[in-house]
Amino acid sequence: MRILLCGDVVGRAGRVVVTENLPHLRRSLALDLVVVNGENAAHGFGITETICQELYAAGVDAITTGNHVWDRREIIPYIAEDPRLLRPINFPKGTPGRGAGIFSAADGRRVLVVNAMARLFMDALDDPFAAVEAALASDPLGTVDAAIVDFHGEATSEKMAMGHFCDGRASLVIGTHSHVPTADWQILPGGTAYQSDAGMCGDYDSVIGMQKEAAVARFVRKMPGERLQAADGPATLCGVIVETDDATGLARRIAPVRSGGRLAPHWPAEFTPTR
Ligand SMILES: [Fe+2]
Ligand SMILES: [Fe+2]
Repeated sequence: MRILLCGDVVGRAGRVVVTENLPHLRRSLALDLVVVNGENAAHGFGITETICQELYAAGVDAITTGNHVWDRREIIPYIAEDPRLLRPINFPKGTPGRGAGIFSAADGRRVLVVNAMARLFMDALDDPFAAVEAALASDPLGTVDAAIVDFHGEATSEKMAMGHFCDGRASLVIGTHSHVPTADWQILPGGTAYQSDAGMCGDYDSVIGMQKEAAVARFVRKMPGERLQAADGPATLCGVIVETDDATGLARRIAPVRSGGRLAPHWPAEFTPTR
């Protein structure tokens, strides 16, 4: 099956590029399932119920998050009601919401989606490796048709370690959070597709999606300045597409998808049906 994961959607510009592009991406790439990381969808900070509904209406099947999940407090009572919205699985026991879910494609094939958060240079949650291990063990490939791990983290080393940790047991381990796409997409030796970071769906004339003047001033002056606001110029959609083998659930191929805005476009031509 074919699954697209889009990196962190940042603000209105990010939402627009996702909602405008998804219908044609679903068709032309014959996508079975779409996952987006929505942690920055509300003006750069958090996500709301309205935005979740907007993304679902555009063809998103599951939304993952990360360290910004609680930035909009109204999501706290909402998350328990919405099985399609995930938060990192390694929050302490008793945290509202879920860190993993099984999502069905239109034809009934089932995909386990796990969302975990890394610990290096981040607020330290519970052990993400143990949490992902438990999630993959309770719904292993064979009982599900594919398994995706969105590992939300700052350090590429920790994300790469998670890739190898899951190799042979997940269809895709994809990093999110840095908002910058990496060029290391590959299929690991055991059959798990991997990329250290998917990049963001947002305006790249910015500092990781935030208006550059205020963001630069913070680094230059080392003083609190203007509030950071999401940049609102034309956004680039950054994602990764993976095709899995139905017999094993492992990856057959992986490619980045980039469209719009300032980054060089990348169309995964090998996924387009040849005529
Ligand atoms: Fe983010
Ligand atoms: Fe993040």
